[in-house]
Amino acid sequence: MPISLKAVTHAQNIRYDKAAEALYIIDQSLLPNEEREIRLRTVDEMVEAIQKLRVRGAPAIGICAAYCLYALARTIEEPDAAAFQARLRAYSAQLNASRPTAVNLSWALGEMGQTAAAHAGDSRPALLEALYQRAVEIHQDDIAKCRAISEHGLSLLKEGDGVLTHCNAGPLATSRYGTAQGPFFLAAERGIHIRVFADETRPLLQGARLTSYELHRAGVDVTLICDNMASMVMKNGWVQACFVGCDRIAANGDTANKIGTSGVAILAKHYGIPVYVLGPTSTIDLSCPDGDHIPIELRDPEEIKTLWYDKPMALPGVACYNPSFDVTDHTLISGIVTEQGICRPPYTESLAALFR
Ligand code: MRU
Repeated sequence: MPISLKAVTHAQNIRYDKAAEALYIIDQSLLPNEEREIRLRTVDEMVEAIQKLRVRGAPAIGICAAYCLYALARTIEEPDAAAFQARLRAYSAQLNASRPTAVNLSWALGEMGQTAAAHAGDSRPALLEALYQRAVEIHQDDIAKCRAISEHGLSLLKEGDGVLTHCNAGPLATSRYGTAQGPFFLAAERGIHIRVFADETRPLLQGARLTSYELHRAGVDVTLICDNMASMVMKNGWVQACFVGCDRIAANGDTANKIGTSGVAILAKHYGIPVYVLGPTSTIDLSCPDGDHIPIELRDPEEIKTLWYDKPMALPGVACYNPSFDVTDHTLISGIVTEQGICRPPYTESLAALFR
């Protein structure tokens, strides 16, 4: 049953209650069956929440980590400034080690670290305030970036188009609207009809549990398919473009995103369908020359064998390989849509130009 579009696009997936000095997230691992906020207090709870995908999606992980570091800074009681900074760096390193692929995590923690260093000589309340303000800024910036990305993405579509998307890059994964799913919400706001095909996204089903949940509740025309049905819907002529998010974009345009994305891009090439990667510039890692240098997270085989089912789906001794992300070669990508506009090949030039 659709609810209001705005309630979906403006969902508060990460919420810092300043009066109570308390950090809350919507526990995405419970969706779509239950929408529940949980409070994160300790570094162990924060790391667990990121690792268990209670908070997930590259930009959302970065925003959450920024608030986490502020919340942890408040708990440090070291009177000595150098000892305070050392403790904060240790917390930052713990958070940063929670997941390796999405560069937004280390980017946001790096921004917070720079703020801490710049205010190292300040009083404790002034330093804490500077950290809080930087976390809010990272959050607010992402809201503005998602809106701009959605506008640029929508400029690639026209009334009646079908778009295939993989995983979840909506409001839950970012802050408002999302990246790859943002254009669909914007189209709905403007009365433009876009038909979305959402890959279910095995093994953790972000497409089924989160993307179809968000789009359906917002009243967007969404059809859920199993990952292995993408070729069929493309062959049927129902897909005019593929929109996907990103966890890290290398300097040459190679892009890490949820496992299965590269397969979608290879299929799309076969059918002559353009593939667009949508994400903020904070997901671009110019220090990473190409996809071979992107660290790929390997996850628990049980996610393939037992999760979401009443009974095991494979014998206990069966070996499983469970990479969480894959890299789509830049030659398969028609455009990279950032808040600054649409980058086209050659990406070594167009991506570098964004940072000049
Ligand atoms: O493992 P997840 O669910 O964090 O993976 C998320 C994705 O791959 C998203 O597509 C990506 O982070 C972009 S979110 C705007």
